[in-house]
Amino acid sequence: MPKVTFMPSGKVIEIDGETTLREAAHLLDISVHDRCGGMGACCNCIVTIMEGAANICPKSVVEEAVFYLAEHDRLSCQCRLIGDVVVKAI
Ligand code: FES
Repeated sequence: MPKVTFMPSGKVIEIDGETTLREAAHLLDISVHDRCGGMGACCNCIVTIMEGAANICPKSVVEEAVFYLAEHDRLSCQCRLIGDVVVKAI
């Protein structure tokens, strides 16, 4: 299963292809500033992809519409994995 490493804590978890980065963060008790419960409405659950960007599903329509996402930023509730990643929870 894909492995997620959250920085700066260094906490690691393996997740299946249905689990989002937001859900993985919650399993490790890491805050991702989500305010809409993972519905893709608040656009606050931003994480920065440090390694493995190609191992995440393509950006969702919701993410494409968020103008303030930086190049390596994603909405964690929209991200499902196909391989290992390292992300910074901000
Ligand atoms: S939790 Fe609200 S957009 Fe991701």
